[in-house]
Amino acid sequence: MKTIVITGGAGFIGSHVVRRFVNNYPQVKIINLDALTYAGNLANNEDIAGKENYQFIKGDITDLEFITKFFDEYKPDGVIHLAAESHVDRSIRDPFSFIKTNILGTVNLMNAAKNLWGSNVADKRFYHVSTDEVYGSLGETGYFMEDTSYDPQSPYSASKASSDHFVRAYHNTYGFPVVISNCSNNYGPNHFPEKLIPLMIHNIQENKPLPVYGKGENIRDWLYVEDHAAAIDVIYHRGKTGETYNIGGENEWKNIELVTFLCQLMDKKLGRDLGTAEKLITYVTDRAGHDMRYAIDAKKLREELGWRPSVTFEEGLEKTVNWYLNNREWLAAVTSGEYQHYYESYYSKL
Ligand code: NAD
Ligand code: TYD
Repeated sequence: MKTIVITGGAGFIGSHVVRRFVNNYPQVKIINLDALTYAGNLANNEDIAGKENYQFIKGDITDLEFITKFFDEYKPDGVIHLAAESHVDRSIRDPFSFIKTNILGTVNLMNAAKNLWGSNVADKRFYHVSTDEVYGSLGETGYFMEDTSYDPQSPYSASKASSDHFVRAYHNTYGFPVVISNCSNNYGPNHFPEKLIPLMIHNIQENKPLPVYGKGENIRDWLYVEDHAAAIDVIYHRGKTGETYNIGGENEWKNIELVTFLCQLMDKKLGRDLGTAEKLITYVTDRAGHDMRYAIDAKKLREELGWRPSVTFEEGLEKTVNWYLNNREWLAAVTSGEYQHYYESYYSKL
């Protein structure tokens, strides 16, 4: 039986990747390796927890001794690496935890895999999941291509860019069997409510102010999380070793237009008068160094591997809102404790 380790599988995107691989590949053992930081939540894996080909292991990718033992014991054939510190605002406050997890953790994993696999890499694969934020910020026109120069602008994107460089360096220097993807903003079920869409859904439900940074004119390219998981599946199995694939939704929205659209959808779903949620919109101090626009050109992935998004933004957002309204306990659980502390200390100063 082959074994694939998925790191960060208790987080937002990782949980969708784990679910897809456990269900689609019953002949492959899937190990979810996650440290369960504030962003990791085993409730995200509840539905597949009892499956025979699934195992959860709690562990920290920055812990070299643990990682060495882990690779020795489980001898994985493949790694899909999603574990990371992922929130830009947190990276502005505490860059070091991003350097530790995103850079050091990635190199630890690659070293352990390299030591295990040696030169025997024909059927081995290390898939590094990255972000479009490594390319920096676009003006009104243009798109990120796979060969766009790196120009990261936040501590988060600088740490992801650095990890991408290490992954390519391992391929170039040691013939390490890597593949990389850089994806645009995801949304969907299980998204931690520090990020724009779930934060707004939560605050609308609670009748709390909706904090829009600056003038709300920044643009993001949104992709439904299950479409990202589908792209990762295709790239893991059919992507070329050493290559990079951009993944995006071709779905650009100005923040303020997205929030307004979400307000209207939430009013409808909650049976409130149209315009109720919009009154909660509050412009707050802009994020430091706020990237203006991200937009992906996913032509390579579309043409070489035949992937394309399966849901429109309207469909995806409706599914997302329905999930949050049907899973209020999930939201209540993750918004207590550490989140409450983060929210109050961060937003009270804006
Ligand atoms: P997330 O913050 O929701 O989840 C991260 C997971 O990693 C959590 O389960 C956490 O417990 C785990 N983790 C953190 N530090 C760890 C450590 N030291 N050891 C082991 N596990 C650890 O993140 P996400 O939004 O699901 O993003 C997953 C990956 O996808 C990240 O690498 C991110 O850079 C990338 N990405 C995210 C987006 C997006 O829109 N969210 C877009 C493109 C790429
Ligand atoms: P976010 O979800 O943090 O993703 P990223 O910064 O990685 O793209 O933010 C998406 C956009 O929404 C970004 O332009 C910042 C903005 N934003 C707000 O206006 N208010 C908020 O409370 C948050 C969290 C984000």
